[in-house]
Amino acid sequence: MRMSFIAGNWKMHKTMEESKELASQLVQRLSGSPYRIMIAPPFTALGAVSEVIKGSSILLGAQNMASSESGAHTGEISPDMLLDSGVSVVILGHSERRHTYGERDELINKKAILALSKGLEVILCVGETLDQREAGTTEKVVTEQVEKGLKGVGMSDLSKITIAYEPVWAIGTGKTATPEDADVMHKVIRSVIQNLYSEAAASNMIIQYGGSVKPDNVKALMAMENIDGALVGGASLKAETFVPIAEYDA
Ligand code: PGA
Repeated sequence: MRMSFIAGNWKMHKTMEESKELASQLVQRLSGSPYRIMIAPPFTALGAVSEVIKGSSILLGAQNMASSESGAHTGEISPDMLLDSGVSVVILGHSERRHTYGERDELINKKAILALSKGLEVILCVGETLDQREAGTTEKVVTEQVEKGLKGVGMSDLSKITIAYEPVWAIGTGKTATPEDADVMHKVIRSVIQNLYSEAAASNMIIQYGGSVKPDNVKALMAMENIDGALVGGASLKAETFVPIAEYDA
């Protein structure tokens, strides 16, 4: 049985005070959630939010990480710095990193391997653009992203990986994949895991959906057989919208 995993990606929003305020509302309102819950504030608020959520079941996530352990990498954040700030999960390969900042599968894979070696969990984001969908290459693109993203990741580290399927055309646009369309892709991802690892690995893999998840569509999405949670952007920025998502009726 896969436990649903609901993650909020705050992106480049919220000052330290705003982050603490939202985190404390979530601690109060989500203490009894039956699901795994994670929030990923901006780097500058990680330490402060870590203090606020200490002792609660909410996990602290980071939105990105350097591909090297330390050194002359101006502007980058190392895995040890994340651990030091209380982070236990890092989001890698988000489409905004891929498409706005040119991150390629090889770099994302390097980050994933490093994060795992440091004991961090990884949410590996994959997803096709609208052009790729219209060209009929969705399955090929997503398969490649999963295969390349997981290159060199051993079976024993798989339980520390979550895959987030986020069709790029559905992110921040208000357009959601239909639950059926999303489920088709989640199934494709599960079969990639089966080919790379094993049937058991495929059936245990947590695969989140992301892209305009809202309180009014979460239930239908989560009802699909292969969808095991959500990576939420816009709707994670307010307790009024994140709490109902994080407590959806199964
Ligand atoms: P959205 O973002 O919920 O605002 O579409 C999702 C994401 O980018 O992870």
